[in-house]
Amino acid sequence: MVAVDNLSNSSKESLNRVQKITGKTLTFVQCDLLDRALLGQIFADYQPDAVVHFAGLKAVGESMVNPLDYYKNNVCGTATLLEVMVENSIKNIVFSSSCTVYGAPKNLPISENSPLGAVNPYGQTKLTIEQMLKDLQVSDTSWNISILRYFNPVGAHQSGEIGENPSGTPTNLMPYMTQVAVGERKELSVFGGDYPTKDGTCVRDYIHVVDVAKGHLKALEKLSENPGVIIHNLGTGQGHSVLEIIHSFEASTGQKVPYKIVDRRPGDAASVYANPQLAELDLKWKPSSGLRRMCEDSWRWQLKNPKGYS
Ligand code: UD1
Repeated sequence: MVAVDNLSNSSKESLNRVQKITGKTLTFVQCDLLDRALLGQIFADYQPDAVVHFAGLKAVGESMVNPLDYYKNNVCGTATLLEVMVENSIKNIVFSSSCTVYGAPKNLPISENSPLGAVNPYGQTKLTIEQMLKDLQVSDTSWNISILRYFNPVGAHQSGEIGENPSGTPTNLMPYMTQVAVGERKELSVFGGDYPTKDGTCVRDYIHVVDVAKGHLKALEKLSENPGVIIHNLGTGQGHSVLEIIHSFEASTGQKVPYKIVDRRPGDAASVYANPQLAELDLKWKPSSGLRRMCEDSWRWQLKNPKGYS
């Protein structure tokens, strides 16, 4: 197994921890997907059977400020990767997409054939890459492509060795909340209390990151059946409000999370949750962790690594 990363928002230490947990040796090469020459060398050297493509920028707000960075890194980076794969006759790929491709959904739960649409440049890059992959497979049907649309991944590995380590101020709910709970930040701002939801706060489909990881293994297995393009939601099908997340975190960790309700964050949809049945049917994949476990594991990671990987 070869891991390739430009380390722009990650740390080599996380790979040391992966080796510790799994007892397996991992080869690492630092490389940016836009570095065509080095990427070509990596493929020539290691000749992988398949690629799991996670690389990309992923902050919605940042994508609105620096859209070109998003198009260059995410779209051009993927185009380069695919060209190098073609050159090496490697035609199996699992791609990290996102529920963001459903834009502001009109009907819930969201199935894979729900209408698509992007509401920010980040989402547009995911949609564009999906289209690029579909077009590629039409042009050469020997490609096998799995597109996984993640809902809201949270949690950490149960060992507390690997978890989310955002650089700077976290923009996502769970890392912000754990930093408040550990005393690093004063309080959590809950974005909007007047949505048409059960308690007025936004509803999302939070899914344990280890369940997401297992979804990739199932997708890789499926590619060996030569399915062409397959698209699956990775979510639990359960929608939870921001207040429910706070209360569940407090109940499962015993930590208080001071919060205040503030204005809505522009661009947030009121409710987003998946219909995950297709993944269960096709991939034989089912999430196994509930909200309590997601909160406990996030907290264990935060406690063991107050400064992340540094
Ligand atoms: C966004 C993206 C998603 C991406 C995910 C992880 C969209 C529509 N969604 O999800 O594709 O995979 O980020 O990068 O593009 N919240 C607070 N206070 C905070 C932070 C968040 O109240 O300090 C609320 C938000 O309003 C939202 C929920 O918590 O309702 C989850 O927010 P967040 O973790 O940022 O993820 P999404 O915006 O749902």
